[in-house]
Amino acid sequence: MIEKTINLRSYDLLQVLITIQSQYITDVDPRVLFEQLLNNLLGLTQSEYGFIGEVLHGPSGSPYLKTFAITNIAWDEGTQAFYDEHRRTGMEFNNLETLFGQVMKTGEPVISNCPSEDTRRGGLPAGHPQLNAFLGVPFFMGGELVGMAGIANRPAGYNNVVVDYLRPFLAVCGSIIAAYRNDLRRKKAEAALEQSLDKIKTILGATVQSIVAVIESKDHYTAGHQRRVANLARAIATEMGLTTDQIEGVSMAGTIHDLGKISIPTEILSKPTKLSGIEFSLIKTHSQNGYDILKGIDFPWPVARIVLEHHEKMNGSGYPQGLSGDELLIESRIIAVADVIEAIAFYRPYRPALGISKALDEIANDKGILFDREVVAACLRLFKQKGFKMEG
Ligand SMILES: [Fe+2]
Repeated sequence: MIEKTINLRSYDLLQVLITIQSQYITDVDPRVLFEQLLNNLLGLTQSEYGFIGEVLHGPSGSPYLKTFAITNIAWDEGTQAFYDEHRRTGMEFNNLETLFGQVMKTGEPVISNCPSEDTRRGGLPAGHPQLNAFLGVPFFMGGELVGMAGIANRPAGYNNVVVDYLRPFLAVCGSIIAAYRNDLRRKKAEAALEQSLDKIKTILGATVQSIVAVIESKDHYTAGHQRRVANLARAIATEMGLTTDQIEGVSMAGTIHDLGKISIPTEILSKPTKLSGIEFSLIKTHSQNGYDILKGIDFPWPVARIVLEHHEKMNGSGYPQGLSGDELLIESRIIAVADVIEAIAFYRPYRPALGISKALDEIANDKGILFDREVVAACLRLFKQKGFKMEG
């Protein structure tokens, strides 16, 4: 049948689809897109009101409609309040014994140019605007019915020409719904992953705390040292603008960096006089020991490696591997500085505390030689400009 009274303009349709596609690419909220699509659909078909919705399935498997966009045809306060409440989240329609229900049941377009006499109709509530003509059209994605549009009151009524005219429009609706569903699925999966990562972090936090408790029970001094190193290392990492993840890793590694000392006799750790060569080489095994204990724990941060590298130096003169410069993780370079600051500033079994300014002078002198320049600069800024203090 040829459209005589009102033209269905392909050019306009194309314009609408191009605009919508480009908006979709720029990540506009699908609800906003469907509101625009509905307005366009009404304009293109000279319809008075309508809706576009997603077809979902209830627990029994029967389809129902959830609107993405619906014209406000409220006719009293109650319907206006209902519209306002559900406009953003979508209204649900479950009655399949209606004209639009037929579309969901059959997956076929429904044309009704005299709804009041149509046996498929479900009837309208009192006050509902006149329904003179109705067109319901389904849209699919990968053969699955994913949504439908319903429009009403085109002056010339609806026919298959209108249905054919709308096919590209419906294909776009289908792909937007499919993309929206993929997006939801991805967000759900991401949220689940994040949740399990949080859980792992909590469990690992508890593991680390129990390691700290073991160390503390054996060597009270080391426990306090590790806590202060962790706090300073965290502050340096933050000052340097490292990522939240790296900051957490630095802090976690700092808290247990001397864990390997657990296998060194307390008499050596707390010896009040200078260590012999053999004793010192025994002490030096603690970074490797710590690494060996931690390497089997699947931390989301490189904790074991930081522990292994915390006595390495920028010029390769450290231990256990003599690594240098970029071979060392930035986190390890931070712990190395924080460790030395704490060791000089605080009391040691073999000497009294030397104070923070002596410690800062020391790292400033060795900047770029033993210690990373940027780490040293950040550490000096913290103490000299930002009032950072190490707790006793
Ligand atoms: Fe150490």
